[in-house]
Amino acid sequence: MKVTTIIGAQWGDEGKGKVTDYLADNSKVVARSQGGNNAGHTIVVGGKKHKLHLLPSGILRKEVISIIGNGVVVNPDVLLKELDNLDGERGQLLISDRAHVIMPYHKLLDGGEESSKGKSMIGTTGNGIGPCYSDKASRIGIRMGDLLDDNTIIERLEKALPRNLALLDHYGAQNDLTIEGLLDLCREWRNKLGEFITDTSLLVNKHISNGENILLEGAQGVHIDIEYGTYPFVTSSSPTTAGAALGSGIAPSKITDVVGVTKAYLTRVGSGPFPTELDDEVGEMIRDKGQEFGTTTGRPRRCGWLDLVMLELSHRICGFTSLSIMKLDILSDMEEIKVCVAYKDNTGLEINHFPSSLSYLAKCEPVYRTFKGWSSSGIDISKGIIPDEMKNFLDFISESLGIPISIVSLGPARDETIIF
Ligand code: GDP
Ligand code: IMO
Ligand code: MG
Repeated sequence: MKVTTIIGAQWGDEGKGKVTDYLADNSKVVARSQGGNNAGHTIVVGGKKHKLHLLPSGILRKEVISIIGNGVVVNPDVLLKELDNLDGERGQLLISDRAHVIMPYHKLLDGGEESSKGKSMIGTTGNGIGPCYSDKASRIGIRMGDLLDDNTIIERLEKALPRNLALLDHYGAQNDLTIEGLLDLCREWRNKLGEFITDTSLLVNKHISNGENILLEGAQGVHIDIEYGTYPFVTSSSPTTAGAALGSGIAPSKITDVVGVTKAYLTRVGSGPFPTELDDEVGEMIRDKGQEFGTTTGRPRRCGWLDLVMLELSHRICGFTSLSIMKLDILSDMEEIKVCVAYKDNTGLEINHFPSSLSYLAKCEPVYRTFKGWSSSGIDISKGIIPDEMKNFLDFISESLGIPISIVSLGPARDETIIF
């Protein structure tokens, strides 16, 4: 029995969807534990690309139970559309009655808050994630379980709507939202999704007790975590091992494996610091070859070299038991490849820990170690053969961080993977 957590070790989009889909083969349950449809997880099956935002990446496997856990924020319209878009077989879906609902005012508010920030905007996905988690923390949120009863919906809306309307008014966001209109919408959601809503914590724990394999599919990445990310340029949930346990309703001690997923380089969407960002033709080459455009928003992703200072923090917070290194194929046939091993500040002091202060970080420059590149002709995935230069690069990452590498990914498809 394994309870495996898949964690994005960087700024998101590391390839968590591919790893989850790959490992789902041996799992009974795949659960999402945090975030919402700000996530965009791509899986490629039989040459077909599937982009999932809310549905767990186990959904395409008939024998897997897919769970949207209590820590997730759910936009029911997005979920219904995603279910409609699935063709062919799918597994059972269940949604936690404790998961919070993204209401239409949350999405409007996300837009209003961002426009009011001007140049200092976070660059959110605009999906109402932050405002929904804000209402959750302010104790005026609406949960999926609340949708099951008209009186509860009205009671919740009477608290939430006036406050959200006042905020929308503050941002000058036009709307025609009323309790009656929103009640009708909630009833529609209940009719279509009510059968899936349950106490999913009980269910996950039952399967753990039965000795079955469970996968917790992280969304986002540790460096946009609300606690340890580059605050305030972060998301509003905790994409960490701790967040995965809490957000799916299991005890942290039940987790047996933590897979840290990292690209062989680094990308970021939205604003915020990026010490190893490449504003040159190398960065452009990586963006073009790696197709680095947001799965959710289509925005070009910022690209740069792999940063081990960042990964040290991710490992410290999440306790990776292994690493999954993605998109090594994108770096093939480059003359040289760089890895950031430390930062040097404006006084010449070298640091190995990611600072919390963004103004201090702005004074830091990356210190690089340069590796000789490898040729794509030296790779034979079916035989598990990789060139010596790639092996040197991987060994260095593994030894520097003190984490074994369990998966090496050399393409988007399931069979473009080497397991160690
Ligand atoms: P996620 O949000 O962490 O699931 O990652 P995304 O799906 O947003 O972005 C990862 C992108 O890289 C997707 O388009 C994947 O299909 C693709 N991908 C994953 N692993 C590999 C790989 O090893 N090589 C290549 N070329 N593409 C990959
Ligand atoms: P996956 O699961 C990359 C980023 C946004 C923005 C910040 C806050 O596909 O890896 P939000 O809408 O969450 O309030 O936006 O977080 N962001 C992501 N970046 N991958 C994601 O998810 C992300 N989810 C949010 O771009 O900078
Ligand atoms: Mg993504």
